[in-house]
Amino acid sequence: MSDIRHRPILVNEVLDLLKVRAGGLYADLTFGEGGHSEPILQAGVHSLLAQDQDLQALERYRAEGLERANPRLILRHATISEFAEDPENFDKFDGIFADLGVSTFQLLHSGRGFTFQKPEPLDMRMDLDRGIPLSERLADIEADELADIIYQTTELRQSRVLARRILQAFHAGELKTSMDLAAVAESVLAGPPHKQKKRSHPATVLFLGMRMWVNEEYDQVAQGVPALFRCLKPGGRLGVLTFHSVEDRLVKHAFQRMAGLRAEEAQTVFYATEASEKAPAELITRKPVTPGDEEISRNPRARSTKFRVIERRH
Ligand SMILES: C[S@@+](CC[C@H](N)C(=O)[O-])C[C@H]1O[C@@H](n2cnc3c(N)ncnc32)[C@H](O)[C@@H]1O
Repeated sequence: MSDIRHRPILVNEVLDLLKVRAGGLYADLTFGEGGHSEPILQAGVHSLLAQDQDLQALERYRAEGLERANPRLILRHATISEFAEDPENFDKFDGIFADLGVSTFQLLHSGRGFTFQKPEPLDMRMDLDRGIPLSERLADIEADELADIIYQTTELRQSRVLARRILQAFHAGELKTSMDLAAVAESVLAGPPHKQKKRSHPATVLFLGMRMWVNEEYDQVAQGVPALFRCLKPGGRLGVLTFHSVEDRLVKHAFQRMAGLRAEEAQTVFYATEASEKAPAELITRKPVTPGDEEISRNPRARSTKFRVIERRH
C-alpha cells in the first residue's frame, strides 16, 4: 500500500461551520481515510457515527486498530441514503458531514478503474458488495440512454457523439480498460491543439460522470442529501463538500429549498414551506466556502471544492 494518504480538505472550516464541540453527537457519512473524522473526534465529541459505502475503506482503518482505540467512534458500512432513511437517526445529530466523491486510495490504489493513469478494469463501484460494474452497464445500454446519462452527470455538449463512440469501441472489443476509455474520451473531447488549454485531461469529466452513474451518486445527492435534514436536532448543522458543478448545484438547490428560498419547488419536498422566515432551515453559507490559494498549492485536488452548510431551525 502506498504512503500517499488522502488529504482532507477545508478541515478547519468544517469544524468551525459545523460548530463541532465537546459532548456533541456527529456523523461523517463519507469516512474515506478518516481525514475529517479524526479532527472531529479530537474535538472531544461525545460520539461520531462514521460510515462509508466502501467496506474496504473501513477495513483498512480497522486493521490499524484505530477504531478499537477510540470508543467514541462507531464505524458502519452504509450509504448516505441508508443513513437518511433510518428512523434511529431522526432528530438526533448536532452535526452531519459529507465529503462527496472518491478518496485518494480509491483513485490511485483500488484497482477499480477510477484512474486512467494505468490500465484498470472498467468497474468503478465504490461498494464491491453491490451494484453493477461499468463494463456490465455498457454491455446493456443503448447510445441514447448513455448520452442522457453523460449529459446529466457532466453537462458535456458532446454527450451524444461520446456515447456512440464509447459503445462502438465497447462492442468492437476495444474498450477493456480505463485507459481505453480515456483514449475514446480524448479522441472526442480534446479538440485542436490550440484549444487544449484546460488543466485537466479531457477524460476527467467523463470518468466523473461514469463514476456517478455506476454508484448512483446523482440520486444519492439529489434525494439523499435533502433527506439528511431530518436527522439533525434543532440547531444542528449539515455540511457538504463537493468537487463538481453538477453535484454542487444539487446541494445548493436542496439547501435553498430547505431554507424556503425556492418556494416554486417547495411542494416537491416534504420539509419545505412557502416563506423563508418560516422555513425549517437557515443557510449558513450563502456563498460556498472554497479553499484558499495556500491549501490549493499544497493540495491541487482541492481546487474545485465547494463547502455549503445549513442549520435546522426548529
Ligand atoms: C472524498 S472521500 C472522503 C474522504 C474523507 N473525508 C477523508 O478526508 O479521509 C469520499 C468517500 O465517501 C465514500 N462515498 C461516496 N459517496 C458515498 C455515498 N453516497 N454513501 C456513502 N459513502 C460514500 C467513498 O467511498 C469515499 O470513501
